[in-house]
Amino acid sequence: MELIFASHNENKVNEIRAVLPKDIHLLSLNDIGFHQEIEENGNTLEENSRIKAETIYKIYGKNVFADDTGLFVESLEGAPGVYSARYAGTGNSADNIEKLFKELKTKSNRKAYFKTVICLFWKNEIHFLSGEIHGEIIDEIRGSEGFGYDPVFVPESYGLTFAEMDLNEKNQISHRAGAVQKLINFVENN
Ligand code: IMP
Repeated sequence: MELIFASHNENKVNEIRAVLPKDIHLLSLNDIGFHQEIEENGNTLEENSRIKAETIYKIYGKNVFADDTGLFVESLEGAPGVYSARYAGTGNSADNIEKLFKELKTKSNRKAYFKTVICLFWKNEIHFLSGEIHGEIIDEIRGSEGFGYDPVFVPESYGLTFAEMDLNEKNQISHRAGAVQKLINFVENN
């Protein structure tokens, strides 16, 4: 069965393709010839993932999912949240981290979590699946693996940042892995 992942990011598509059941044929936006950017102008992860999945569903009428992720920091009332990618306004991860450090300078509570929401259109019905990982934001940059906020996020009961972990290790415990595992369970049972 074909399933579209409404993403242009081939790395993400390949990562998910590798863990889906073999009878699911995963197609990226490039694979289906959709080359436009879909504007993510929602105010929640649910809205943004739905905008992406629904745009493709309305055009192609096929099973499709999209994901959206954010970092939610407790003492910043959930910021940067849905705006994580463009927190500093430049779209640059180093700038985003610098802004986070500045905002957290006077805060003692460093608790934060990543959340991924997947919106799935499956057999003409809409479903939301999510994964979270809780931890804290440290006050220095550590490690060189991964991307985004990885060098400043230490998951609960781990001594290492995501950027200090082996990528396979991160991919086993991450917010995205949790949401993708629910996606796998869903498509296997439905
Ligand atoms: P996206 O929805 O997967 O594009 O993620 C939005 C933004 O959240 C990214 O641009 C990153 O800043 C941040 N982000 C998402 N996933 C991760 C992660 O696994 N580690 C660090 N930052 C992440």
